[in-house]
Parts: sequence; structure tokens; C-alpha cells
Amino acid sequence: MSRGLVLLIVATAAASAQAAYSACYWAVNDAMKAVPTAAQLSACSSQCSANAADIQKFLANPNCSMSADPYDAATCDPIIANCTKCVLKAAKLLKADNTFDETAFKATTLQNKCSADAKFKAAYPTCKNSTMKYLNLSRLFRCLFTAVNP
Ligand SMILES: *[C@@H]1O[C@H](CO)[C@@H](O)[C@H](O)[C@H]1NC(C)=O
Ligand SMILES: *[C@@H]1O[C@H](CO)[C@@H](O)[C@H](O)[C@H]1NC(C)=O
Ligand SMILES: *[C@@H]1O[C@H](CO)[C@@H](O)[C@H](O)[C@H]1NC(C)=O
Ligand SMILES: *[C@@H]1O[C@H](CO)[C@@H](O)[C@H](O)[C@H]1NC(C)=O
Repeated sequence: MSRGLVLLIVATAAASAQAAYSACYWAVNDAMKAVPTAAQLSACSSQCSANAADIQKFLANPNCSMSADPYDAATCDPIIANCTKCVLKAAKLLKADNTFDETAFKATTLQNKCSADAKFKAAYPTCKNSTMKYLNLSRLFRCLFTAVNP
């Protein structure tokens, strides 16, 4: 797998033993691991591979590295927009106007398991604004996962 593709893979958190997990927690947890799928990523291999000019630019910027603190979303996320758009489109989460399809995300990706979850509802607008402005799905997942984690 190329380094470009590695960027898109979400780090998953380990579940701790005793807490009471909600259905929404599991939906976010499972979706975070499953989306994008390997097939969706490979459909975007030309846009997302380390050979693509914009991916090289991204990888060369220390402020965009996985260990950068803070990660400079406003600078870094737009550099790889072609890759992120392709992946969201492949995952059927991109509307025709190139914005995030949140209806599909809630209904299909999360299987409607979060629509009545109070923690999810409280966190969602802020999570969405801070991550999907730049279509960074992995940050959206992480933000939501933190919010619904008991
Ligand atoms: C992104 O895709 C558009 C449309 O295909 C293309 O014109 C543009 O050059 C691409 N940008 C980069 C940075 O590769
Ligand atoms: C990285 O961020 C620092 C602090 O904002 C900035 O001074 C520097 O120019 C940035 N580096 C690049 C390559 O954009
Ligand atoms: C999304 O943001 C994270 C930092 O939170 C970054 O490591 C990653 O490269 C960004 N882009 C994608 C496509 O996930
Ligand atoms: C999210 O962004 C939209 C458009 O910029 C704004 O109208 C809305 O108030 C923001 N919501 C939150 C929770 O920040």
C-alpha cells in the first residue's frame, strides 16, 4: 500500500472494558473501521497515491504529517482535496455539488443508529463543521467517536 493511501486509514481506538456502550457508539466504531473500504480506496489510487503531485506536496509539508501538532487542517486538507473527494464519492458520501452528504452518512454509514443518541446530536454540528468543511472523514469519525465514547 502506498503512503498516500495510508493517510486515509483511520486509527482505531481500543475499547475499554466495562463502560456501557450505546448502539451509536458501535455504529461509529464499526463505520470508522469499515469506511472507506479497500475497494473505495483503490478506486482512487491515481488521486491518492504517493505519486500524485498534490500528495507529494502534502507529504513534504511537516505541518501536515500525522505527528504534526497541531495538524494544520486549513492548509493541509485542501492540498489533497482531489483524493478526499474521490474517496467520499466512491463511498457515496459526496453530493453532486461536492459537499458532504450527511443524510447518507447518518442513514447508511451509521445505519440510523445515532439519530436518537443525545451525545451524538450534541456533538455532531461542531464535529461536522470542524472536519467536513475540508471533507476530512477520518477527523469526523474521530470527533464523533470521542463524543459517543462513554
Ligand atoms: C484535481 O482535479 C482537477 C480536476 O480533475 C484537476 O484539474 C486538478 O489539476 C487536480 N489538482 C491537483 C492538485 O492534482
Ligand atoms: C508550518 O507552520 C509554521 C507555524 O505556523 C509556519 O511558520 C511554517 O511556515 C509552516 N511550514 C510550512 C512548510 O508551511
Ligand atoms: C485528515 O486529518 C488528519 C489529522 O487530523 C490528517 O492526518 C489526515 O492526513 C487528513 N486527511 C485525510 C484524507 O484523512
Ligand atoms: C457550522 O457552520 C455553519 C456554516 O458556516 C454555521 O451556520 C453553523 O452555525 C455552524 N455550526 C456550528 C455548531 O458551529
